[in-house]
Amino acid sequence: MKITSATFEISNSDWSRCPQGNRAEYAFIGRSNVGKSSLINMLTNHGGLAKTSATPGKTLLINHFLINNSWYIVDLPGYGFAKRGKEERERLQRMIRGYILHREQMVNLFVLVDSRLEPQKIDLEFMRWLGENGVPFSIVFTKLDKLGRVAGVEAVERYKTQLLEEWEELPPVFMTSSRDSRGREELLAYIDKLNSLA
Ligand code: GTP
Ligand code: MG
Repeated sequence: MKITSATFEISNSDWSRCPQGNRAEYAFIGRSNVGKSSLINMLTNHGGLAKTSATPGKTLLINHFLINNSWYIVDLPGYGFAKRGKEERERLQRMIRGYILHREQMVNLFVLVDSRLEPQKIDLEFMRWLGENGVPFSIVFTKLDKLGRVAGVEAVERYKTQLLEEWEELPPVFMTSSRDSRGREELLAYIDKLNSLA
């Protein structure tokens, strides 16, 4: 799929105020700093579309980007940022969970995990919660440029093996890097396929 246009539309703190209408949308979630906003910029080929930062906790709202005048990419705040106060963390969690549970236009949630880390409890618990709530999701491994080819494949295989200890089958898995754009075609092709089914 070619991306011919990508424009910021609106930021919200509440799912109920997100854009009306029935355009399909795809949201990106994961721990703070995992690379959600960078991935969105890589997918759309628009360097500054979503705001990124080397320090976690950059994205704090639900951000809608209109793609090809027909569907949305949604950048969400990260979860699990320890330095943030408890109250603020809980407020963000309510924002994220409210969006995920109620936003009917969301076709698929992309859960980003850092390919360099062993499976993290917080990510595994989050995916469990998605499963319990019947939320369709895929897993996107990020920052693969930081690992060698072999180490990258091995890390992803280890992760999948661990997931299979509790999941009967695995969701779609993508291996990406926002630095070298790997995984871009696969991810866009997947979105294209879901768009055509919608
Ligand atoms: P929050 O909005 O704070 O939740 O973070 P985020 O998940 O949106 O992360 P963001 O895209 O802002 O990126 C965080 C840091 O990781 C930045 O310093 C990015 O440059 C870096 N980064 C993101 N993706 C990649 C990648 O694929 N490879 C490398 N090497 N660095 C990356
Ligand atoms: Mg962000």
